[in-house]
Amino acid sequence: MAIIVLTSAGGSPGVTTTGLGLALSWPRPVLLADCDRHPNQAVLAGYLRGLSAGGRGLAGLVQDYRALQPVSSQRLIDQTLPLDDGVDQPRRFLPGFTNSGSATLFESYWTRFVAQLEQLDRTDVIIDAGRLPEGGLPEVLLERGSRVLVLTRSGLPALASLRLLLPELTDSLDDPARLGLVVVGGGRPYPAGEVSQSLGVHLVADLPWDPVTAAVLSEGDLPPRKLTGRPLWRGFQSLSSQLQASEVAA
Ligand SMILES: Nc1ncnc2c1ncn2[C@@H]1O[C@H](COP(=O)(O)OP(=O)(O)O)[C@@H](O)[C@H]1O
Ligand SMILES: [Mg+2]
Repeated sequence: MAIIVLTSAGGSPGVTTTGLGLALSWPRPVLLADCDRHPNQAVLAGYLRGLSAGGRGLAGLVQDYRALQPVSSQRLIDQTLPLDDGVDQPRRFLPGFTNSGSATLFESYWTRFVAQLEQLDRTDVIIDAGRLPEGGLPEVLLERGSRVLVLTRSGLPALASLRLLLPELTDSLDDPARLGLVVVGGGRPYPAGEVSQSLGVHLVADLPWDPVTAAVLSEGDLPPRKLTGRPLWRGFQSLSSQLQASEVAA
């Protein structure tokens, strides 16, 4: 199974939108986990249109960990919600932190959480890690994540802040080849290839600028006709197949 970690240097380039897009086009059973340290309800309020988590999510897992329950994969599934009707593939969503204190509390549980993810049968995991936290991503995510993808827009302010954070991220990975860049909207203004070259990070994808498709995922807007033919949807499909294929080859 693969664990794909998505993060950014801040400025909301589209980590959550891309995580959702990848999960919805992932060719295998998948779990999208909201691990953004900054509590938000982006997926529940947006794509899932105000659906209540009903107490499920990372906070529920913490209760298990504190009660020293065995961390079975079923206990993890119990904390998730279906992301769609799952006709072809089960696609599930694990809601994230509900207050900043719970993110701090979770610090000591990352290892158990990742071990529990790894027990999932034939299910890949996409982690929305939000913006890079101070002090970096949890070590176990860096160790066990098959890919760490940093998302950025292509304007100077986005690149300048990413440049500040990249050295620490690169240093913290034992195999820097697992780090990849996803440019959201290359050519606005700088081409994705140039962005990747100037940052010295391998370009994994240049996702099209497509506000209509993005808003279906981030705002819960009604899908346009032929959503699956939209540029960004195709971008998600090709990135998810590419990531999955590289896992199989690895
Ligand atoms: N490829 C894209 N094209 C156009 N707009 C996008 C794209 N990806 C994301 N967005 C928009 O960017 C905004 C921030 O997206 P979001 O996924 O919440 O960012 P983050 O999780 O990085 O904070 C949203 O309004 C979303 O619709
Ligand atoms: Mg987000």
